Amino acid sequence: MSEYVLAIDQGTTSTRAIVFNRDYRNCGSGQQEFPQHFPRSGWVEHDAEDLWRTAVETSRLAMSSAGVSACEIAAIGITNQRETVVMWDRRTGRPIHKAIVWQDRRTAEHCARIRADGTEQDIGRKTGLLLDPYFSATKIAWLLDNVAGAREAARAGHLAFGTVDSWLVYKLTGGRRHVIDVTNASRTMLCNIETAEWDDSLLALFNVPKAILPEIVGNTGDFGETGEALFGGRIPIRGIAGDQQAAMIGQACFEPGMVKSTYGTGCFALLNTGAERVTSQHRLLTTIAYKIDGQMHYALEGSIFIAGAAVQWLRDGLGIIDRADRSGPLAAAADAGQIVYLVPAFTGLGAPWWDPDARGALYGLTRNTGPAELAKAALESVCFQTRDLLRAMRKDWPRADETFLRVDGGMAASDWMMQRLADIVGVPVDRPVVHETTALGAAWLAGHGAQVWPDMQGFSQSWKRDHRFVARMDEGERQQLVLGWRAAVRSTLDFSG
Ligand code: G3P
Repeated sequence: MSEYVLAIDQGTTSTRAIVFNRDYRNCGSGQQEFPQHFPRSGWVEHDAEDLWRTAVETSRLAMSSAGVSACEIAAIGITNQRETVVMWDRRTGRPIHKAIVWQDRRTAEHCARIRADGTEQDIGRKTGLLLDPYFSATKIAWLLDNVAGAREAARAGHLAFGTVDSWLVYKLTGGRRHVIDVTNASRTMLCNIETAEWDDSLLALFNVPKAILPEIVGNTGDFGETGEALFGGRIPIRGIAGDQQAAMIGQACFEPGMVKSTYGTGCFALLNTGAERVTSQHRLLTTIAYKIDGQMHYALEGSIFIAGAAVQWLRDGLGIIDRADRSGPLAAAADAGQIVYLVPAFTGLGAPWWDPDARGALYGLTRNTGPAELAKAALESVCFQTRDLLRAMRKDWPRADETFLRVDGGMAASDWMMQRLADIVGVPVDRPVVHETTALGAAWLAGHGAQVWPDMQGFSQSWKRDHRFVARMDEGERQQLVLGWRAAVRSTLDFSG
C-alpha cells in the first residue's frame, strides 16, 4: 500500500516539495528559488516555465531524498501563490506571456476606472473582494488586451487561463485537465463565492471570455494523474488549495473562530467563519476557506503585502544583514529608548487600508538610529499590521477566538519576532511543531482525497505546539506604541494623497 504523500508548494519566491509519511513527518524535501522579473516599476512577473520546471525538479529531489519511488506515493497535493495569472496556448501548451504576479500593480488604473463606474459594491457582494490590482481579473484582461492576437485566439478557443494550480495540474497531467480549485477561484474576482461558479456579469464587466476558464473543483477529488515518464510512474493528484488556505488547513483551523497568520513574502491572516459568509465592515476580504467532502467553509482574510519582504529589504536593499534569520538578533540589540516606525508600503498598503498608491515611510529617526533600530522597526511593522487585522476581524465577527493565534511561515522561526507579536497583539501566539504548514495542508488534502487520512478529527488532534509566546508588555506601553503606529500610517496615507 502507498504510504506517502507528495506536496508541491509553489510560492512567490521559491518552489518547495515535501514527501510526508503517514505520521505527517517530513521524510524528504527539495526547494528552489527562481528569477523574479520587474520589467517596470510596480510590475512583477514570473516565467511560468520556471514555476513548472522547479515544481518537477523539487519533487524529484524530495522523492530521492526520502528514498521513495512513484509507486509508494498515494497522491500529490498542490498549493500555490494565489491570484497570479498564467495564460497559455492550448495548441502548444506554452505560455503566451510571463505570468503576472499577485503583487503586480499595473492594472491600478483599470481598477480606478471600474470604481468610477460605481460597480465596486456589486463586485464585493458577489466575490467578497475589494477592487484592487491584487486580484486576477484585471490581470487577465491586461494579457488579452496587450499580447498581440490574444483576444482573437481566446475567442477561437485556443487560449487557457489559470492560476498557478491550474497551470501545474495542466502540465502534470500532460494537458488532460484544466481545473482551478475553489479557493484559487475565489481570488480571481470572477467567481461568485456563494455558488462557487463563474459569474457571467463579472466576466462581461472584465471582458473575459468563458472559453479560457478552467473548471472549478473542490479541494479534494480526482484531478487526474501524472504522466508515466515524469516521476517514473503515474501518481494521482488528489488535493489542491491556494497557499493561505492550505496553511489554514495545515494549522488544523477547522473550527469556526480559529485564526492563523502566515508570514511569507506577505502576511495573510485568515479567520474561519464556518458556513457563514461574513461581510466585512472593515475592508477585510471574504473568501472561500475550503470545500472538503462537499462542505464549504468561508474565511475573513486580512492581506498584508510586505512581511518577509521587509526583511529582504533589510538584506538586499539596505545590506544591513547578510541572512534573513539575522534580523531577529539584530532587532533585539536595538536601543530601547528609540521609537522608530517603518510603514512598509513598498507596493501600496493592503488590508485594512487598501491604498495601491501609498509608499513606504520611516518615522522617528535620530542621529543614533542605526541598523538595529531599522531591523526592529521592520519586524515590528509586521506585528502592528497583524494587530490591525485581528482587531478588524473581531469587530466584523465577535466570535473570533481571542485565546490564541496560530502562526507559521519563515518569520515565525524568529523567537524575538514572535514574542514581539504576542506583546503587540496581546494574544498568545502558538507556533506549531511542523513548520511547513502550507505543504502539510496540501498533503493532508491529497491524503484525505486518497483515503490515506480519511479522518479530519484525527488530523486536528495531531496538531502540536512547539512554543506558546505570551504577552509580557503592559497595556499602557502597548497602547502608546499602537498610537504612534496609527499616526505613522495616517501620515503615510496623507502623503500619498
Ligand atoms: O495572495 C498571495 C499569496 O498567496 C502569496 O503567498 O507565501 O507566496 O507569499 P506567498
